[in-house]
Amino acid sequence: MAVRKLAPSILNADFSNLREAIAHLNGVADVIHLDVMDGDFVPNITFGPVVVEAIRSVTDLPLDIHLMISRPATFAKDFIKAGADWVSFHIEAVPEPRELLEQLREKGVLAGVAINPATPASVLFECVEIMDFVLVMSVVPGFGGQEMIVDALGKIAELKEAATARGLELEVEVDGGVNIKNMRMVIDAGADVIVAGSSIYAAPDPRQAALEMRAILDSY
Ligand code: DX5
Ligand code: ZN
Repeated sequence: MAVRKLAPSILNADFSNLREAIAHLNGVADVIHLDVMDGDFVPNITFGPVVVEAIRSVTDLPLDIHLMISRPATFAKDFIKAGADWVSFHIEAVPEPRELLEQLREKGVLAGVAINPATPASVLFECVEIMDFVLVMSVVPGFGGQEMIVDALGKIAELKEAATARGLELEVEVDGGVNIKNMRMVIDAGADVIVAGSSIYAAPDPRQAALEMRAILDSY
């Protein structure tokens, strides 16, 4: 498995100055996590491909698009065109994910499936060989700044075991409620990619907060 990655989520950043919010991450983040919500799959609306394209124009970091939308198969191509490097969609929105995963891979992005805290890991076991990563949600999706649901972390080992049993390695991203205090627990549970939103952007100095998280990741 590659070195662990830090994936800041800009959901709680200052949207009146996204250029600066992104600049805080230069040389600190491995990938930028972008939360797309449609007001249907989740009770909140964020942004679409136009904003992803704007972010693409101000950073060379890979963009990790987390689609919390009811119809990812309809819109994924627009996010890829806008500059996505990783794309994940929810198993709760697409219970038969093979076709969409294959389509995403054909378009040259890393393809992932996200799973809500209430959904058992076992629903993903049969398709681990066609995904590049799993996004384990450790909060109910919809909003940043929630407290982590620690029980969700058990899914990391379950999914990795399912992959290992099939002779594969699976990268697992953990999203929701990660902060400087609990991130060691998340790493110890097996996470490869750590999403952090409010713990970076609600901090007085976002770059400093991101640097502190980076230092913890690098200490492993
Ligand atoms: C929640 C989003 C998360 C969120 C993370 O629906 O998918 O990516 O922005 O924010 P924090 O780190 O504040 O939980
Ligand atoms: Zn997310």
